[in-house]
Amino acid sequence: MTSQTLREARKYEETAEKMIKKEERPDFHLSVRTGWLNDPNGFSYYRGEYHLFYQYYPYESKWGSMHWGHAVSKDLLHWEYLPAALAPDEKYDKDGCFSGSAVVLPDGRHLLMYTGVVKEHQADDVFCDVQTQCLAVGDGVDYEKYGMNPVLDWRDLPKGASRYDFRDPKMWQEKDGTYYCVAGNRPADGSGQILLYMSKDGFKWEFKSILAANHNRFGKMWECPDFFELDGTWVLLTSPQDMLPKGFEYHNGNGTLCLIGDYDRETYTFKEKKDQAVDYGIDFYAPQTVLSPDGRRIMIGWMQNWDACNLRSPEEPWFGQMSIPRELSVKNGRLYQWPIRELDRMRSNKTEHRNISFSGTISLDGVKGRRVDMELALRPGDEENLYQKFAVRFAQNEQYQTSLSFRPRESILKVDRKFSGSRRAIIHQRRCLVNSTGGRIKMRIILDRFSVEVFVNDGEHVLTATMYTEQEADGISFFGDGDVDMDVVKYDLI
Ligand code: FRU
Repeated sequence: MTSQTLREARKYEETAEKMIKKEERPDFHLSVRTGWLNDPNGFSYYRGEYHLFYQYYPYESKWGSMHWGHAVSKDLLHWEYLPAALAPDEKYDKDGCFSGSAVVLPDGRHLLMYTGVVKEHQADDVFCDVQTQCLAVGDGVDYEKYGMNPVLDWRDLPKGASRYDFRDPKMWQEKDGTYYCVAGNRPADGSGQILLYMSKDGFKWEFKSILAANHNRFGKMWECPDFFELDGTWVLLTSPQDMLPKGFEYHNGNGTLCLIGDYDRETYTFKEKKDQAVDYGIDFYAPQTVLSPDGRRIMIGWMQNWDACNLRSPEEPWFGQMSIPRELSVKNGRLYQWPIRELDRMRSNKTEHRNISFSGTISLDGVKGRRVDMELALRPGDEENLYQKFAVRFAQNEQYQTSLSFRPRESILKVDRKFSGSRRAIIHQRRCLVNSTGGRIKMRIILDRFSVEVFVNDGEHVLTATMYTEQEADGISFFGDGDVDMDVVKYDLI
């Protein structure tokens, strides 16, 4: 039975979507159908298609009472909207259906697990969100909430764990058929921890262990965990709130954290060995992964970040887009990311310029556009006299530009969107310490109307930023302070 709240959302989104022209959205990055989008949810492969749900408030371009929006795709680049899947319409989720995940049941049904939120009155004007984990079962379009919801609540928490910060369950199924899920939680030390639960049938869940604990090292509360085996090791992704910066690795605010280590399936313990940020740009948060039928671990993130949400005016009919899906791998104890190979099929109009030697500003024939896949390889033009700086500027006209600049002596790559048309005093630049020697570096740059994603040195570092510059600004130019030698291979993405 579809509730009145869900029916209204479905009716509203169908009409409101028509008010947004195709050209006013990103082309191959999923954007919200109408209104507001944050975290990716329920990323799964079901009945021959990828399903991606998202945190959704259809009625305004700002965060509100959370629904789950829904879209499907065969290649993760061409998306079709489906009707909203969940609305906050039960007493255990009346203040929001927060983030969660999806698995396929043996009988062919699609199982969603999400966080149900209920505001609890504390004193005077003080309310706290009580968070529990709830289920919904469906056929890929319509989902029915489980009669025994919630399936995990305060009774399933270890000692000292907060029932107010207990959210974002990410489920998976092991080869023996057992289901597991990880969820974010706040322990007594006020920071974050990841809880592990197990279920034989997907419906009845039991607490197993505290899989990882923050101990106030990486921000505070840990949101949106994901946990999987990859290339012979285990990867725990989570998105910490309230980070303090650490060198060039972690920035202030909401961050992304990747812990790589060993997992003991017998004792449900994870031994951390390495940590790193997932993305080094401005707009990336709350990533979630799926295992594709051909065995690739693919990650999508919310291509925004909480403190920079007012980059776009709330008058715009949509806010919120997903990153490009990224294939993950672990090499030498480090997480690598690369745009999904399906993107190669969208490459057209190849333009190639090899061994371009320059200093000062240049532009190149055929190199412009806002839906672009461009590979750059840089070398010093003069080995004896290393160049000071290289920059590539894009989304450029007389008034606007966004740039990536590289200083080989410090090995720092910087993304800067302060001239992208923003009228807000928020973060517009970020620097990343990359690996380069003697001025040599490779970058693959993906533009899709309102964003740039830069994959450095085969995906060793990734920087993501949104920019809402008018589309007429489609110039690309290159700058060298000193002699630079460069190869450029550029495609339009169509
Ligand atoms: C992360 C997050 C999640 C929560 C959701 C609410 O961005 O705060 O922890 O489930 O957003 O929309």
